[in-house]
Formats: sequence, structure tokens, C-alpha cells
Amino acid sequence: MSAVSYILREASARVAGASALTELDEIRIHYLGKKGELTSLLKSLGKLPPEEKPAAGQVINAAKNELQNLLNAKKADLEKNIADINLEKESIDVTLPGRGSAQGSLHPVSIVQQRIEDLFLHMGFSLERGPEVEDEHHNFNALNIPEHHPARAMHDTFYLENGLLLRTHTSPVQIRVMSERGAPLRIISPGRVYRCDYDQTHTPMFHQVEGLWLGDGVTMSELKGLLDKFLQSFFEHDGLAIRYRPSYFPFTEPSMEVDIKINSEYGITGWLEVLGCGMVHPRVLSNVGIDPRESSGFAFGMGVERLAMLKYGISDLRLFFENDLEFINQFGR
Ligand code: DAH
Repeated sequence: MSAVSYILREASARVAGASALTELDEIRIHYLGKKGELTSLLKSLGKLPPEEKPAAGQVINAAKNELQNLLNAKKADLEKNIADINLEKESIDVTLPGRGSAQGSLHPVSIVQQRIEDLFLHMGFSLERGPEVEDEHHNFNALNIPEHHPARAMHDTFYLENGLLLRTHTSPVQIRVMSERGAPLRIISPGRVYRCDYDQTHTPMFHQVEGLWLGDGVTMSELKGLLDKFLQSFFEHDGLAIRYRPSYFPFTEPSMEVDIKINSEYGITGWLEVLGCGMVHPRVLSNVGIDPRESSGFAFGMGVERLAMLKYGISDLRLFFENDLEFINQFGR
């Protein structure tokens, strides 16, 4: 075997066995570099008799070309392998479960608000919403709370520009719905309300649910029957002690506050107020164009956080707004 084919055989075997691009480069330098074996052979042609030079030169050049082709093919192979390995490494298994997939839960205020809504929806009420930015007409005047009325001072109102304000209760929704639709009506309206107040039992924003039942000859016995049923269902207690205490609201006459008797199981004992209610004041009906001689009805309003505190035995209202997950997670469903 000639020296050329021997070198080519050896070089081919090395190329085939190479496993890295650097190794391939070393092989190339070893055979094809300036001082490489095949290059040197080509240089040594000068020593041959002139008639042998062309043939020998052809053989060496063919070997050089073949080796170069082998190197190129192997290089492409190795590069493809590297690409495959990288693809493998970088691939994402979209079926793997995500990290930190803790189950979220509703905020206790949302849970209680939805519960209140559900109970009234089952009793034939429909849901209405009103704006949180209100005007004095809907929030006060039409509800029979004229300017300079002492009840206004009790509301600690956040006033905005142009006679607008943040609603201090959900009662203005009564006015909006009665003005638009007239009687009969059976609605509840949940939502945020705002008062400039902050301590253990007051926060500047809290939630209320307003209720209104208006019809032909709706009386206080319906009011009492409905609210009794609601409170028993809400507190899941058929024998719940409930009392109706005379009170005053400008928009109802007569007006009452409703108390329930809580036992020590909740940590708080005694009669506790849960809502305000009364027969819609004839002047409120006139204000929205309803004839008080034709329709009558009752209204009620309750604080969602207050009911949540009583239901869960929580004594500091502010806990609902601090967003401490240890607290909030206890109510998940
Ligand atoms: N709007 C009253 C408040 O914020 C609650 C209320 C009391 C609403 C009696 C009523 C009602 O509809 O009849 O304190």
C-alpha cells in the first residue's frame, strides 16, 4: 500500500472516531495543516523525477480532497448532534404541573356577600347595581335626607367635586331603580360604600346589601317574615332569637333595627344589631313619582362585614382588609 493510502486510511479512521469538533480540528491540522502529513508529502514531490510528479500529485490531491470531505461530513454530523442535545435540554414539558399551584379561595367578604345574594335570589329578588360615585340627590335628598338634616352628619361623607360624592350606603340604588321602573319591585343591591371613619369596627370602605320590596299592599308582616327567614337561613339556625327594635331612618317610617341573640360559641354574647329596615317613607315614594296610596313596601340594609364578623366570630373588622393569607385562607371553599 502506498504511503498516501495508508495515511488516508488512518486519517479516515480517526475522523470516524472523533466525538468533538476540537478533535476534528486537530485531525485536520495533523494531515492538512501547513506542516501536515499530506501537505508535507505534496511538498516532497519536488524530489521525484519530473515524469512522475503529475501522477503522484494527483493521488495526493485526491486524498486531500477526500479527507477534507470526510472532515466536512463529520463536522456537520457533530454539529447536528450538539443542536439535538441543546434542543433536548431546552425543551419544555408543557404537561408538567406548574410550581406553587396553591389553590386560591374567595375572600370571606365575597363568600358572605354571595351567600346573602343567593338567599334573596331564591326568595324571588333580582340583583341591581348602582354607581359608587353618586350625587347628593340619590344618596341623600331623594331618600328624605335634605341638606342640614342631622342624619347627613352621621354619614361622614367623602365629597368629590361638582356635587358628587362616594356613596355612603347602597340605599341610593333604591331611588335609581324606583325612578326607572316604578312599582312593583323586588330587588337587592350589593356593593361597596364609603365613610370617612377608621377604627376597630369602622373602615373607610365596606360592603352593604340593600333590599327593597314594593307592591300593592305589602306590609310589615311580610317584612318580618322575610327577614326572619333570611336570618335563620344565613346563620343556619331555625331557632335563632330575633328582635325588632324601633329605630329611626329618614327614608323609612316606621323604622326598625333588627338584633339577633348570639351565644358564647361565637365569642360574643348578647343582642347584636344585624340590619336596619322599615316601611318605605311615603315622601321617598313621591320623590320617585310613585303614588304612596297605590304602592307600599319595605326596605332593608345590612353590612356584609358585620354579618361576616358575627357568622365567623371575628372581633376586628380591619382583619378583612389586611390581606393576611393566614387569616383569609381559613374561609376557602
Ligand atoms: N342605609 C342605611 C345605612 O347605611 C341602612 C338601611 C336602613 C337601609 C334601613 C334601608 C333601611 O333600606 O330601610 O345605615
